Amino acid sequence: MTDKTKKSEKKKPATSRKKEKAQQREIEKRNAVMLAFNKYYEEEWGSERWPVLLEALQKPVRHCMMINKYANIQELKTKLEPTLADLTMLDFLRIPCYASKSHSRFPAPSKDSAGVTDYYILDAGSVLATEALDIQPEDHVLDICAAPGGKTLSILQRLDAKYGQLTSNEIASDRRRRLRQVIESYIPANIAADLSTVVGKDGTKYYGEPEQYDKVLLDAPCSSERHVLHDEKEFEIWTPKRTQMNAKRQLALLKAAVHSVRVGGLVLYGTCSISSLENDKVIEKMIKKGKIPVEPVKQKWPVGEKTKYGWIMLPDRTEGWGPLYFALLKRTGASKEEEDSEEEEDE
Ligand SMILES: C[S@@+](CC[C@H](N)C(=O)[O-])C[C@H]1O[C@@H](n2cnc3c(N)ncnc32)[C@H](O)[C@@H]1O
Repeated sequence: MTDKTKKSEKKKPATSRKKEKAQQREIEKRNAVMLAFNKYYEEEWGSERWPVLLEALQKPVRHCMMINKYANIQELKTKLEPTLADLTMLDFLRIPCYASKSHSRFPAPSKDSAGVTDYYILDAGSVLATEALDIQPEDHVLDICAAPGGKTLSILQRLDAKYGQLTSNEIASDRRRRLRQVIESYIPANIAADLSTVVGKDGTKYYGEPEQYDKVLLDAPCSSERHVLHDEKEFEIWTPKRTQMNAKRQLALLKAAVHSVRVGGLVLYGTCSISSLENDKVIEKMIKKGKIPVEPVKQKWPVGEKTKYGWIMLPDRTEGWGPLYFALLKRTGASKEEEDSEEEEDE
């Protein structure tokens, strides 16, 4: 044995000890975050519900396939022939969506002979949220936080290319690129040209086009606890502060969304968070302190549960769908901010 190999053999236990210590620190850090996480959400959901909900959140995320009406359905039927027995149509959705009975993976989406992609894979809660906005074929719609584009696509399924219009906004340029790709690959070019526009503004400052839209969808960036639980790195940096910071940004986005909708129009606010600070509390602040009068439109849905102002789908009570919170707001009048400044001008 040479001196060199002897040295490296002596070193080995030291490095593995270092590694072990680092691993131990990681475990301790993760345990500490888990304690804080559990404490926070147990207070929110109660000691009976929380362990059940946590277990459901830790299971693999469930998806459905949303069929693209612009794709060739005959070709799609042939493609899905071998998996047909395992597919079940989701009867609580109006857009045709299928889930796997055995929770298996779907065949990957693919292009038909005309180059249009056949289906989009997403949480059924996302489709339900856009259905709650009750899009009519002729509506002018703003999707204020749109990438990667699942909800934008489901809105596009409902609009008439002659009369309807969708503006999809996304602040992050890489995600905006993805959004454009999604629209291009699912909507034939001539229809997309009439129906859809993609823009890249900061949604919290979306005040350039007041009262332009019949409907606004705000699928707000949020704490995404289910995603965080499945991502070690994200989980390690979780603190209760995160939900407070998100709630602030969400309220700013909601104010802009309400500003952009016409009087009598609807805003659908949604998140995939389980924190009430990011859900009902944001709506409550908008109703009670916002300068634009809005009222909640209460609706019941076949899947999920009622909250103070909206609806939530949680995986422990929906066969795995969600989390998805949504609340519908109707704008009932002009902005008091404008009235205030007009009064100031008169004085
Ligand atoms: C929950 S995701 C939207 C998911 C999308 N609606 C879908 O169904 O595919 C939130 C998006 O909002 C974007 N975002 C965050 N802050 C924003 C802002 N101030 N203005 C516009 N978009 C923003 C994020 O980059 C992210 O893509």
